[in-house]
Amino acid sequence: MISLQPDIPRVDAARAERAVIALDRALGGSKVLSAREARARCEAYARDESETAPQVPDGVVLATDSDDVVTCLRICEQHEVPVTPRGGGSGRTGGAVPVAGGVVLALEGMRGIKEIAREDLLVVVEPGVVLGDMMKAVEAEGLFYPVDPSSLGYCAVGGNVAENAGGPSAFKYGVTREYVLGCEAVLMGGTRLRAGRRTVKGVTGYDVVATMVGSEGTLAVFTELTLRLLPKPTAVRTLVALFSAVAHAGKCVSEIVARGLQPRCLELVDDGALVALRANGAAIDERASALLLIEIDGVGDLDPLLEQIGDACVSAGAIDVVVAQDEAQRARLWSARRELSPAVRRLCKSKLSEDVVVPRSKVAELLAACDRIRDEEQVRMLAYGHAGDGNLHVNFLWDHDDDLPRVDRAIERMFHATLALGGTLSGEHGIGVLKAPYLPLEQSPELIALQRRIKDAFDPKGLLNPGKIFLPGGAPHRAC
Ligand code: LAC
Ligand code: ZN
Repeated sequence: MISLQPDIPRVDAARAERAVIALDRALGGSKVLSAREARARCEAYARDESETAPQVPDGVVLATDSDDVVTCLRICEQHEVPVTPRGGGSGRTGGAVPVAGGVVLALEGMRGIKEIAREDLLVVVEPGVVLGDMMKAVEAEGLFYPVDPSSLGYCAVGGNVAENAGGPSAFKYGVTREYVLGCEAVLMGGTRLRAGRRTVKGVTGYDVVATMVGSEGTLAVFTELTLRLLPKPTAVRTLVALFSAVAHAGKCVSEIVARGLQPRCLELVDDGALVALRANGAAIDERASALLLIEIDGVGDLDPLLEQIGDACVSAGAIDVVVAQDEAQRARLWSARRELSPAVRRLCKSKLSEDVVVPRSKVAELLAACDRIRDEEQVRMLAYGHAGDGNLHVNFLWDHDDDLPRVDRAIERMFHATLALGGTLSGEHGIGVLKAPYLPLEQSPELIALQRRIKDAFDPKGLLNPGKIFLPGGAPHRAC
């Protein structure tokens, strides 16, 4: 049975304190917090948005430029003290939680947008810039950065890159990785690297940038990112299709894909998640047991595409299709969708939310498997998310600790069902602390060993964000 979070040993307190004193000397008191003297401020760096148990770091470095990052990683390696890099703290699997203690390297002070190059269609930023701020800045120039996780109002771009974040618009535009052209990054020990490019093409050497993207802060700390942009679409339309059964909504997703239509978002909300939406104040037709939130974008007249999508919805059995009439209606729909995760959390005492992915054609089978597991294990489950990508947030809800063994079994069964359908354990939230025990379900020992050797090449002492992705032995699980 899997029910508790793995125990990661904490770094020796005296050693950590010596490192924090050395950092304070090198960087100055305004950039270094010590848990001994400023515990309350350090507590703010103990958690992320997952249910990973908080750990207060021994110290926090508030970096304002890349030299601070170099100094932090040099001194911490000299003292053999772990470092956990942190952007906006919006992660869902414990990536920014300093599970081994040591130093949190906070990048929120590095928010610069250094360059927006219209002719080259790229932006150069510091890692702590808030995603929504960067989006607004490039949109003001007629450009577009399309990756839009729900936390875009407070997540940091560096964290998005470290986690290879996704979001609703991945259906058309893909995930963060597809937009990272190059970076400056600092290795544990303080070595500064430039990798990647500013060009559209480039195949020189190994793709080191791609290796660092999605490495969950375990390989290097980004200090600058060069991201590809697109021209800004001039038209956007949003619609909601209501269904009396989730199976019809699943069928509609396949219908839209099979007809070759390409909305930018194709989001599903099942009956259990509709309960959360209604409880959060959304007025949704009582006949609906599922909905699809669909958004299209492009240049010029979108009415023909809108009609084709509406037609696919009706063919799949939609009981109603409602098109947002103005920007305010559209914003209300997205605000309800973006608040879904906290709204689900309010339904019960505890919840775990997964982010499994199956091939697009298998969404209906995954939903059916979830139904079976729910019935057999007698667990409260619901699902919502990026159905167009086959990426669903399957949530497990419970109120009493006695329910945990059944929840654990249900989660593990859901992972097995996902893998049997040709899927993967994480589509956007990463492995972090919480899913590390399950990595061997999906990946062979040889593949895990190869990744550990890559980790050793970047960080031989294993000091950068320890306790993430790979864990020794079979250990427990908690997701958000
Ligand atoms: C979402 C987050 C949880 O899709 O990934 O709302
Ligand atoms: Zn999501």
